[in-house]
Amino acid sequence: MKTLRECIAEARERKVAIGHFNISNVESLWGIFKAAQSLNVPVIIGVSEGERDFVGVRQVVALVKSIREEFQYPIFLNADHTYSFDRVKEAIDAGFDSVIFDGAKLSFEENIKIAKQCVKYARNCGREVLVEGELGFIGTSSKILDAIPEGVDLSEKSLTDPAKAKEFVELTGVDMLAPAVGNFHGVLRSGVDPKLNIEKVKQISSAVGIPLVLHGGSGNSEDDFKKAIANGISIVHINTEIRVAYRDAVKKSLQEDPEEVAPYKFLKPGVKAVQDVVTSKLKFFNNL
Ligand code: G3H
Ligand code: ZN
Repeated sequence: MKTLRECIAEARERKVAIGHFNISNVESLWGIFKAAQSLNVPVIIGVSEGERDFVGVRQVVALVKSIREEFQYPIFLNADHTYSFDRVKEAIDAGFDSVIFDGAKLSFEENIKIAKQCVKYARNCGREVLVEGELGFIGTSSKILDAIPEGVDLSEKSLTDPAKAKEFVELTGVDMLAPAVGNFHGVLRSGVDPKLNIEKVKQISSAVGIPLVLHGGSGNSEDDFKKAIANGISIVHINTEIRVAYRDAVKKSLQEDPEEVAPYKFLKPGVKAVQDVVTSKLKFFNNL
């Protein structure tokens, strides 16, 4: 079976992207896996610090590993947005396939210092673990927004600077980079987020020469995804749209049958709702 590094390299070469989807429970994991399996494409499961504390750090590793082994399927686990070296170390020790050190809110120097420490730990852990760095602030919460998140500035001067990105990648040795290119976490209440700066994606990609990761994918258009992927994005993260679909489906299910007490029955529509959102995203990302 291909490794995560090989799947990313292949996606990059074919100018498609691997879908990265967050989970907080086993229902969402099944919904995502079923969607990927039906299209026969690799997939990454993400858990933020909060999500993995809820599922269990070692437990989520066991869940994803059990699916990978039982179905001989390229499904990988990423420690999404991790804010300290200690938590990166915890995820690597627990068996994650990749980690993101998110130092976007730190100074450039501090971000480099800790990202470098994470890369060193990953390289010496005895197995292959990929490390992603973040440069440029894009907000922190996957939720419905009334306005662009505080601290996020979509004007050109505040997006990731290609020269700084190059310096960051050279000094840290990260495997992938998450830039700020007009993207942000969460979705505006209208369901549509502002357009991405594709020219910036192109400039950063040619400056750094490593795969780029687009965070905050909920609310972005099919057209933006296509252009971003054609210009250097190799992984796209989606969370809010899955959360909304799951919440709405479970709410409807409970409203329709308030007497049902079996979680495996009233949560079932949640699995289907996640599967449907993920299927449609994976089709754009993989050009299917
Ligand atoms: O890391 C998670 C993602 O970047 C999700 O962003 O909630 O806007 O889809 P999103
Ligand atoms: Zn993210």
